[in-house]
Amino acid sequence: MSTALVQAINVTKNFHGNEVLKGIDLDVEQREVVCLLGPSGSGKTTFLRCINQLETINGGRIWVDGELTGYEDRNGRLHRRTNKDIARQRRQIGMVFQRFNLFPHKTALENVVEAPVHVGGRSKAEANKRGLELLDRVGLSDRCDHYPAQLSGGQQQRVAIARALAMDPKLMLFDEPTSALDPELVGEVLTVMRELAQQGMTMIVVTHEMGFARDVADRVVFMDAGVVVEQGAPTDVIDNPQHERTKTFLSRIREETEEHAAALQARLDAEQI
Ligand SMILES: Nc1ncnc2c1ncn2[C@@H]1O[C@H](COP(=O)(O)OP(=O)(O)O)[C@@H](O)[C@H]1O
Ligand SMILES: [Mg+2]
Repeated sequence: MSTALVQAINVTKNFHGNEVLKGIDLDVEQREVVCLLGPSGSGKTTFLRCINQLETINGGRIWVDGELTGYEDRNGRLHRRTNKDIARQRRQIGMVFQRFNLFPHKTALENVVEAPVHVGGRSKAEANKRGLELLDRVGLSDRCDHYPAQLSGGQQQRVAIARALAMDPKLMLFDEPTSALDPELVGEVLTVMRELAQQGMTMIVVTHEMGFARDVADRVVFMDAGVVVEQGAPTDVIDNPQHERTKTFLSRIREETEEHAAALQARLDAEQI
């Protein structure tokens, strides 16, 4: 038995006959941070959604913390788990999306305590206490009573992280958590993610932030067209990629990053005047 927190073996997924995951194998160890890179359309989001059972897989198997997801293996035969059991499995995983997906009519604190109270069966007092701790942890203790529209994109995304943490997940999945943010707000979200990694959270992070991947990831996995093309230590994959597809992708990301940095600098310069 593997000790990995996540073990995916030969995972396939098609949409209407179009195979978007073509046999993904991936192990993620306890406390490991894996950054998943790859061009748009390569299947990164679909793979995260499969781990979290927002999609059902067509082939292969995924275990989370030693449990087969979606199915129970009884003497070699697979039996679909009940919806209740699947919901229990899904609660072990926190997910943060590109768009913040906060409830607009709820305050930051109400967003964070929603699941623990209504799904987790915690008392309101207990959930509020924990919610305040989590908002403090993401640097927003002074924003508890603000509504999403009163918060910046970076603040909203930090609330989304606190909300995902509120159910005490074993695993956090991040799907391009900073790509919808103005460049000057990216850093505060990455800082929170970095702290989470340092505190020992197991994380799979889809990102184009190469600085983050280099500093924080234990391993970088490059996907293209539904397969894992290469993986390894960040310095190996990012600074010394072996495959042509990885090289092409990384040089494009590098150009985009430089363009963004130049645009941001120009804007900051203009605001100085
Ligand atoms: N619900 C869906 N129905 C049909 N096709 C989908 C669906 N979700 C994703 N796809 C397709 O699967 C492929 C991989 O998409 P996605 O996982 O979003 O890639 P990435 O996150 O790497 O950009 C794309 O071709 C996309 O159009
Ligand atoms: Mg995606």
